[in-house]
Amino acid sequence: MAGVPFDQMTGKIWFNGSLVEWADAQVHVLTHGLHYASSVFEGERAYGGEIFALREHTERLHESARILDFEIPYSVEELEAASRAVLKANNFVDAYLRPIAWRGSEMMGVSAQANTINVAIAAWQWPSYFNPEERRKGIRLDFAEYRRPDPRTAPSKSKAAGLYMICTVSKHMAEKKGYADALMLDWRGQVAETTGTNIMFVKDGVLHTPLPDCFLNGITRQAVSKLARKRGIEVIERAIMPEELGSFQEAFLCGTAAEVTPVSEIGQYKFTPGEITFSLMDDYMKLVDPSLEEKKLAAVG
Ligand SMILES: Cc1ncc(COP(=O)(O)O)c(C=O)c1O
Repeated sequence: MAGVPFDQMTGKIWFNGSLVEWADAQVHVLTHGLHYASSVFEGERAYGGEIFALREHTERLHESARILDFEIPYSVEELEAASRAVLKANNFVDAYLRPIAWRGSEMMGVSAQANTINVAIAAWQWPSYFNPEERRKGIRLDFAEYRRPDPRTAPSKSKAAGLYMICTVSKHMAEKKGYADALMLDWRGQVAETTGTNIMFVKDGVLHTPLPDCFLNGITRQAVSKLARKRGIEVIERAIMPEELGSFQEAFLCGTAAEVTPVSEIGQYKFTPGEITFSLMDDYMKLVDPSLEEKKLAAVG
């Protein structure tokens, strides 16, 4: 299944202020970010040449860094221009973008007060986060063993690389059992999110979603909530216990990479992707991809 490794692809990467060849975007093995996860990142998608919610993502990158006690040495405007330049330099119209900032090599102890802050932005073509056939039928989730940490234990509002350690392990465990992903509970035992997306449920025409008080309040989650309200669908943010999952009819994930993805199973609980999920899937695609109608017409014509 593995294609060309990511470090061996070709193209241009924005690296500390300029566009460089893919192969030249290197870091040394003695880099603080690698040893201590002093790194924050973003995941963005471009549709029809436009990066969706670029301002929100770029501001979140700045805020994620501040939470980890560092300042990104490029303004939001500079990073936005760099993201657009990466897209253009690689001739991408639809693509996934990965901005990342990390502490460099001047100090290699836990303290890194003097380390320079490095920033890179790469882009690649990443069509669907989940298997496209499985996606419309709904994907299957297992329950993860790890829980989202208490905000007093970890910087849960930062999109910090270190927080993904438990996500990779949880996703691996789920995949080994034949599931597509894992649902993580939080430190209190409430439903939180999956390893890379937020989650929403439908009960009697109303959307229910966990309060994002110890995990990312995703940009997709916020966009989908707005779209739902626009349709007159009530959105309730509240604590959701895993025992309640049997009372929901539909469930779906939302995130930049996964977009809106229906869920058919979570452990012993079953869901049937239905009208609300499919309408919000369509609404979301229309919102993020203004060129969608033209593409449909081109496909038909
Ligand atoms: C753990 C986690 N939760 C939620 C999300 C959804 O966030 P967004 O919609 O801003 O991409 C992501 C993706 O960035 C994620 O990695």
